[in-house]
Amino acid sequence: MTHTPIAIIGAGVAGLAAARELSDTDYIIFEKSRGPGGRLASKRLNDLRADIGAQFFTVRDPRFEETIALAMDAGAVQPWAPRMGTFQQSRAVASPDTQRRYVGTPYMNALGRFLAQSVEIQTEKRIAVVNKDGDRFILTTTAGDRYTADQVLITTPVDQMSDLLVDFDIDEITQKFTMAPTWTTVVSASEPLVTDDGGMIDACFGGDHPAFDFISVEHSKSGRNSDLLVIHSTSDWTTTYLETDPKWVAQEMSALLNDTFNIQSNPVVSHRWRYARPTDPRLTAQKGIYQIDSGLWIAGDYLAGGRVEGAFLAGIEAAQRLQRV
Ligand code: FAD
Ligand code: NAI
Repeated sequence: MTHTPIAIIGAGVAGLAAARELSDTDYIIFEKSRGPGGRLASKRLNDLRADIGAQFFTVRDPRFEETIALAMDAGAVQPWAPRMGTFQQSRAVASPDTQRRYVGTPYMNALGRFLAQSVEIQTEKRIAVVNKDGDRFILTTTAGDRYTADQVLITTPVDQMSDLLVDFDIDEITQKFTMAPTWTTVVSASEPLVTDDGGMIDACFGGDHPAFDFISVEHSKSGRNSDLLVIHSTSDWTTTYLETDPKWVAQEMSALLNDTFNIQSNPVVSHRWRYARPTDPRLTAQKGIYQIDSGLWIAGDYLAGGRVEGAFLAGIEAAQRLQRV
């Protein structure tokens, strides 16, 4: 059995931020997917690609700002200044603002890859369960491999975390912090999005719309050169159609977009995020982390406002706690 002082589960933004912070301490980071980034995801669609998870991020904390400045120097991040809209009484209207927003380039997962540069990840290793044996933890992968660790940090979404911790009392956390799903639909459209007040927009918040949560025009982001648009559905709409055929969802969202903006988009694909966002992003744990047991911590966006920056700061904080032992 391999032993590590610190085991990190999940190589999304939180796990990667923690690993970077631990650079002088021995650790192993496990990731179930083929690459890093988690919900900073893009999907290949024949010759094209589209962001299917986070569409952008904002920067408010100097620690995140410093890292994003480095990512910009490396060409992995660029500012994004879309002509913004929103929905009022389900009608699209212009909604300009001065918020600074950023995107990964050429796709959102570039930020994940940037954060992973100095981090050696054990990819395609899905942890199935974490048990405690005396002072140590035993991590078992779905392939049956076992590792021991003095400390463990879990950065998966809350429901996936609870699957791993069947031996621990986590009711308080799982009852308080829940996550809601999002259907993401990619469509192609050659015509621009024009609001009811006549302005052209590159992105649109959902406002009071029952089905649209966010819409973005891919080519308005640096490095994208397609006619693709990405539509996130609201949690309510997604919950209603959670188990519906993705092809139906794609057609439905495309048709709704066409009716709303009087365009002719075509459905490309729909992707279901079962654990997309905190049900109530205002509910947070202090510094985005929580100690389940001595040496066992959880961290992630669902404890930190449901944003990329929150996940990053939670990861840093968790690493500092792990190093204090
Ligand atoms: P994750 O990214 O979920 O990382 C967890 C990692 O753990 C994943 O890589 C997963 O594969 C891995 N994992 C899970 N289980 C296991 C296991 N058993 N063993 C090993 N590995 C495992 N944020 C914004 O700031 N702006 C936005 O516009 C925005 N839009 C979004 C739109 C959508 C549709 C979604 C889904 C999210 C959006 N977000 C947005 C949220 C943002 O993506 C997250 O806050 C952030 O990426 C979360 O990072 P994380 O590290 O906490 O979790
Ligand atoms: P932000 O500061 O750009 O927006 C925060 C919120 O303010 C928006 O959700 C929107 O409601 C409102 N807002 C901001 N500018 C607006 C404008 N010009 N017109 C109308 N409303 C406006 O971004 P921040 O704080 O970094 O938030 C992250 C974003 O990620 C949020 O929009 C959140 O909903 C989204 N998100 C989506 C998820 C999903 O599953 N669809 C998951 C997690 C986050």
